[in-house]
Formats: sequence, C-alpha cells, structure tokens
Amino acid sequence: MIRVFRAEKVRGELRTPGNKSVSHRALMISAMSSHGISTIRGLSTGTDVRDTEKILGLLGARISWNKEQCLVESAELRPARSDLYCGNSGTTMRLLAGLLGGIGGSHRLVGDESLSRRPMDRIATPLGEMGMHLDGQGDSVTAPLTLSVPQKGLRAIDYEVPIPSAQVKSAVLFAGLAATGTTSVYERLRTRSNTESMLRTAGIDVRSENHGQGRLITLTPGNIEPVNWEVPGDPSQAAFWIVLGLIHPDADICVKEVEGGEERNGYIQVLRRMGGDITRSGEEVCELRAASSALVATDIYSSEIPSVDEVPILVVAASAAQGSTRFIDMGELRLKESNRFEESVRLARALGATVTVAGDDFIVDGLGSAGVFESFTFDGLLDHRLVMAAAVAGAAGSGSIITSEGAVESSYPDFFSELEVVSCRN
Ligand code: S3P
Repeated sequence: MIRVFRAEKVRGELRTPGNKSVSHRALMISAMSSHGISTIRGLSTGTDVRDTEKILGLLGARISWNKEQCLVESAELRPARSDLYCGNSGTTMRLLAGLLGGIGGSHRLVGDESLSRRPMDRIATPLGEMGMHLDGQGDSVTAPLTLSVPQKGLRAIDYEVPIPSAQVKSAVLFAGLAATGTTSVYERLRTRSNTESMLRTAGIDVRSENHGQGRLITLTPGNIEPVNWEVPGDPSQAAFWIVLGLIHPDADICVKEVEGGEERNGYIQVLRRMGGDITRSGEEVCELRAASSALVATDIYSSEIPSVDEVPILVVAASAAQGSTRFIDMGELRLKESNRFEESVRLARALGATVTVAGDDFIVDGLGSAGVFESFTFDGLLDHRLVMAAAVAGAAGSGSIITSEGAVESSYPDFFSELEVVSCRN
C-alpha cells in the first residue's frame, strides 16, 4: 500500500524510462541478428522488458551489460528446455510467439495471473495460418500456451489484422522473417510502427504504404544486421506527467526525449482539444511541456488512441474537466492488463465524477470548476497504468491510498520516487 500526498505545486524536468515497445523489439531483433554485436542504450528498466531479456537468454541469446548499455552478440538461437515466463507482458508473449517461428521446436509460454486472462486467439489465428500450432485455454486461447513449429517451416501469408494491434502485426512480421516468401499485413488503423521501422534499420526489406487511416506492410525475409540502438523515452509514460501538469492548479512540468511517433501522439491532440496548455518541440524525439489548464470536455474516439494505452490517464483528465467527456468505442480496454474499461469507470467514480456506461462507450461528467478530487483509496489490481493514473489524481487532488502499487515495476519502477520529486510539498 502506498500513500500519495497532495502536491502543493508541480515542477521539474524528467525523462521517462526507455520506450517499452522499442526496448522489447531492440532485444528481440538483436537476438535474431545474423552476425556481430548490437548495442542498446536506454532500455526500459521495467520487469516486462527484463522478462523478454531472460527468455532470449534461455533461447541461447548472448546478452551482457556494461555500465551504459546492453550488448547482444549474435548467436544461434535454439529451443529452450524450460517454460518461457512472460510475466505481466502481453508484448513479450505475443511477439515471442512470432519469433519462435524462426527457432523451431516446441515451447510452453506462461504468464502471471493478469496475462493468463488475456486473449491469445488474435495471434493463434494468423500464426496457425503460417503453419504453427498454438494451443491455449478456452475459446480465447489464454495462457499457458503450447506452441510448436513444423519441421517443414512456415509459409508466408497475407493477413488483415481484425483489430488495431501492434502486437498482432508484429507477431506476424516476426514469423514472416522465417517464412518462405513475402508476408503482408494490412491494418485498418495505423498502430505504432516500431517493428517495421526497426526491422528496416536492421537491413530487412520492409515496405509500408498508407491507405486512408490504414497501412499495408510487406516483408521479405533476409539477414538481420547488428545495430546500435538508442531507445527514446516512452510517450505513454510521459502522458502521466503531462496530465499531472495540466490538472494541478500550480504546475509547470517538462518531459524530455520522448518518442514522437505519429501513432503515439493522439493523447496530446485530445488534451489540447480539452484546452490543455502543452508545448511540444522536436519530431522523432521530442520534448513536452505542460502547465496548469482549465480543461473542458470533449469526445474521445478509440481510433485517436490506437492501443488505448493512455485512456486511464485521460479518464483522470476528464474527471477534472468541465462538462461531459464521451469515451467512444472503448471495448478493447477490457482486454488489457486488467479490465481497464470497468476499472477506469471505477477510478473516475472514486474521484467524484459521475459516469454513465452504454455498451462500449462511457461518459465522464467531470468536476470542473466545482471542486478538487477528494482523497480516495484505490486498488490498482495488477495494472501499472491504473496505479499511475490513480497516483496522479491523488497528487493533483487531496491525496490517495493505493494498493497493488508494486504493479509499476513492470514498466516504470521509479515512478513513485519521481512523483515525489516533482510534487513539491510544504
Ligand atoms: C504494444 C502494443 C499495444 C500496447 C502495449 C504495447 C506493443 O498493445 O497496449 O502496451 O509494443 O506492440 P496492442 O497490440 O494489444 O494494442
């Protein structure tokens, strides 16, 4: 249990941990390289990425550390003898399933209680079409998973991802590296493009074409070259500081070296539309600054925030805003580290907002000028983003008591100490 105190004012400059998506991929792509040594600077310090690193070690990757960076020396990957423990990390499990296509053999993939509730049918279907056998529990194919790769190898497919998911796209592209022929993936809504761009950097022929809001990606297998990766800061983690800066009445906060990929900026546009005073400088890697703002309600569509990662913290912003913010088409939230749909509603109510739920939509009637969040108690379950959203609300309002606070270890181990630093208290 942790007690978060109200911040008298919010000031400071910080850098979030290395982008989680880039970190997983830098480790995996480097482990698959055909020769040489790759280096990774700024890797995420969370347990999710550490679980990926441990699994790659079990598969024969040669990973070591010196003071500044992680080194991955090319090695022949081979089937592991033990279960592959993916912890809390959906990215680890889903991307790894694709990567195992190139290693062969049979594996058992397991996860913690939260990950073991999340659907893996979304990867079982395309990987099955490519020739892999992937079995799990029940209709939605939850972990533990058993996965095997046929002796004759994989076939390339043309796959249209039925839901916007960078993890599914990436699992297919990773398996495509080991398939005969050119694999293509079509996504109707563009999701983060780290897999495509990083494979391209590593010398793989990956092409992308935009079609309206969507994108067609084609990948032709080839040798992966070693790369010196520099991991920028994580934009989803920056969102917590930005919202704290906007909703606290005496705040000015700056987050440096944030990845600025176009698919990750949706929450900034939403917050600006709500009247948020956010300054952004830089493109691929940017600096974000937020200052106290009187927020007003807006309509937020899930398509603006592919992956819906920033919705819990936007719910905190909506709870502080004047008027009714509609969160539209948010069903995918139910399938994250917790049922973030229900839990976001619970959080908004704990903050004193009135919430109405209708199917996959919910409406948050914010406090606006009528008040500040009262102190509240919140169980963050096993969900890092809920814990951080609740902590931000506590620091901006009248404090909070949060249980399950250890969940931040998965993505942002220093979150609470940084919150302490930027929350100036008398
Ligand atoms: C991620 C993709 C997203 C996101 C997750 C990281 C990735 O998941 O929620 O935190 O690195 O590919 P989905 O693919 O399920 O949207």
